[in-house]
Amino acid sequence: MTKILAIETSCDETAAAVIQDGRQVLSNVVATQIELHAKYGGVFPEMASRMHVETIVPVVREALEKAAVAYDDLAAVAVTYGPGLPGSLLVGVNMAKGLALGRGLPLIGINHLEGHIYSHWLRVEGDGRASDDLQFPLLILIVSGGHTELILMRDHLQYEKLGATLDDASGEAYDKVARLLQLGYPGGPQIEKIAVEGNPHAFRFNKPKVDDEFAFSFSGIKTAVLRAVQSYGPIGPDGALSARVPIPDLAASFQHSVIDQLVSKTVAAAERYGVTAILISGGVSANKLLRYVMKTKASVPVHWPPLWLCTDNAAMIGAAAHYRFLAGHRAGWDLDIDPNLKLVD
Ligand code: KG4
Ligand code: ZN
Repeated sequence: MTKILAIETSCDETAAAVIQDGRQVLSNVVATQIELHAKYGGVFPEMASRMHVETIVPVVREALEKAAVAYDDLAAVAVTYGPGLPGSLLVGVNMAKGLALGRGLPLIGINHLEGHIYSHWLRVEGDGRASDDLQFPLLILIVSGGHTELILMRDHLQYEKLGATLDDASGEAYDKVARLLQLGYPGGPQIEKIAVEGNPHAFRFNKPKVDDEFAFSFSGIKTAVLRAVQSYGPIGPDGALSARVPIPDLAASFQHSVIDQLVSKTVAAAERYGVTAILISGGVSANKLLRYVMKTKASVPVHWPPLWLCTDNAAMIGAAAHYRFLAGHRAGWDLDIDPNLKLVD
């Protein structure tokens, strides 16, 4: 039995978890900073790293206590070293290095996106969860605040990038449109909520013209929403909108057009590459409409993690670390953060 302590501090969640054999979540502690950043309408990097410094020690301690494991029971310490905010990543990486060095444990560096992918291998209850015997090749749609990528996986730890966004990430588009519509941060859940009251066909946002078959683009939709808002009158200096702006219709039409693009490209790629399943990962995979439309349109099973594994957490880092551990990967004591780390070069 291999137990790994995993640490994740790449953005605005301070998280630690203990994972057994890459599948069993013995503990999963997440201290979110959402309330703090909501005041600023987005993540305030300097505040994020300060909060990580304050919470990392109690969060790690709680993860070990909840899992009822001692340092001697651990096989390794894993940590996210990129991509993410530099000041935030540094806190986790230094904590992991200190623990590993002090306790004589191997250190494993994990790419945050690899973590989102491996959330599907955790054995957890819930709607949409993958079976224990996922068969390669698999198609992964990563949709988060910083990334939108279609990845083909022919084996563990092997990634082929089929396409990515040419401009904004899908989560970023949700956040920007939510800010424009004065819905608050983070934008995804707010837009999803208010869109239920709107008509998704009230506005027609043209499909972006993208040459690459599996590439995405969301900035055009965002600009189209801005133009539609402006057609009802000028935006006030504090972002105030005319009372006539049909916010639920705009949110629903925006969401419809983002999901239409995500689903049509993913389904086409799944057919082209003959995958056995589609795995949706990252914060936007929390979106119920995305899950539903993908499931309806795809000809292979579609999986998504339970809500608590969709957004940032350390359990997924521990799951990925297990496969890296088995493959013999070990980081040196010179492990450094890589804020722009790519999954595939
Ligand atoms: O993976 P994540 O927690 O952090 C990053 O690694 O970026 O993703 C955060 C993103 C945010 O942009 C947030 O608005 C979006 O995920 N998100 C959603 C939903 N819940 C979170 N987007 C659409 N619908 C949701 N229900
Ligand atoms: Zn993430």
